[in-house]
Amino acid sequence: MVGRGWLISGVIIILAILARSDLQEVQYDNTAAPPRSICSGDLSFTKGYKCEDYDVITEDGYILRLFRFREGRTKKSQIKMKQSVLLQHGLLVDGQSWFALSHADQCLPLILVEQGYDVWIANTRGTMYSRQHVSSKLTSSDYWDFTFSEMGKYDLPANLNFVYQQTGQKVHYIGHSQGTTMMFAGFNEWRVEERVKSLTMLSPAVFLNHMPFGLVKIVAKAYIGEIAGAFGLRDVNVMIEPFGTMIRAFCAVQGSNCFELIYFILGSGQNCCLNSSTIELWLKVQPQATPIKNLVHWAQGVRKHVFGQYDYGNPATNLEHYGLPEAPSYNLKRIPKDLPLFLIYGGQDWLSIRKDVHILLNILRSYRSVRELYVDYYAHLDFIQGITAKDVVYPDIVSFIQGIP
Ligand SMILES: *[C@@H]1O[C@H](CO)[C@@H](O)[C@H](O)[C@H]1NC(C)=O
Repeated sequence: MVGRGWLISGVIIILAILARSDLQEVQYDNTAAPPRSICSGDLSFTKGYKCEDYDVITEDGYILRLFRFREGRTKKSQIKMKQSVLLQHGLLVDGQSWFALSHADQCLPLILVEQGYDVWIANTRGTMYSRQHVSSKLTSSDYWDFTFSEMGKYDLPANLNFVYQQTGQKVHYIGHSQGTTMMFAGFNEWRVEERVKSLTMLSPAVFLNHMPFGLVKIVAKAYIGEIAGAFGLRDVNVMIEPFGTMIRAFCAVQGSNCFELIYFILGSGQNCCLNSSTIELWLKVQPQATPIKNLVHWAQGVRKHVFGQYDYGNPATNLEHYGLPEAPSYNLKRIPKDLPLFLIYGGQDWLSIRKDVHILLNILRSYRSVRELYVDYYAHLDFIQGITAKDVVYPDIVSFIQGIP
């Protein structure tokens, strides 16, 4: 679908970034307090919403920030007995990405609050609010030694158990992109269904067999992880922050359409419905850091056409980690039959391309029912930042979770 020329220019851009002499790791900081959160009221359209921050500690010691929107502006949002919803963001962004819009009635979390839900917003390990660890002795490379597997194994249960303790309730889970990947992986690690009432998966990213282009594809095709290793960067788990610097530099050039560049680098596909005036909001806090190891894990999916654990590349190291010479695949049939599941995907999305979502759907439908919404003109970011998603997608999500007793 995409010509060789594009692939080559993508590779050149990424190599240029890797070769930059000022390339630095994003340090995890054990002492600094996390920056002011979304609850501080910096976003004018969240005024009037009751918002709280919580810190949650994972079993392996990472300290994660959870945002909670408890009440909105309307009467309906002030009911006492509420159900909880947890929103889980995707790759290279954090929980603030649900708010890169200009109006409260366009944001999924705020729509849910007004519908009478208690809304929790996760920030995975390594993102700006969740960059602390209980241990003061951990080295930076130990801190950044994770992929979406650990997010599914540790971050998810920490957050979901926390909400359960606070509310006594299972949650309706809504994930986007990597937020679906970590959940599908999580089912192989712990009993998710004891904490989750339903699953809504936006742009499910599990099989990457047909991905036409984008960062993950380039990392896969050009063996960027291996090249980073040759630059001496593999062990330090270099972060993706240089992309942020580059995007910001590009966007500072007058007249350039920044969202175009973001489609290109992230490989999200051509989004139909982003408001280009909100790019400022997005750029203030995104893209967020992630380890090279995580990108390599994604790239393994592209190359191997399997959804599995991180492959250490040699039988001895795999044996050490998994007790098996090969990295095991995740079993997608771990989701119980009776757990309501809603898959939402778009025809222009290059990260969760339709053909790959169908592979996933076929596996799921071989043993259970799945509700599905397909929007043929939507790409990857439209589902969370599209100005029309409030009409095209979110009413279906609300009716789906409202229909669950
Ligand atoms: C687009 O963003 C600008 C700036 O935030 C805002 O004033 C405008 O209302 C937005 N348009 C739509 C259709 O949401």
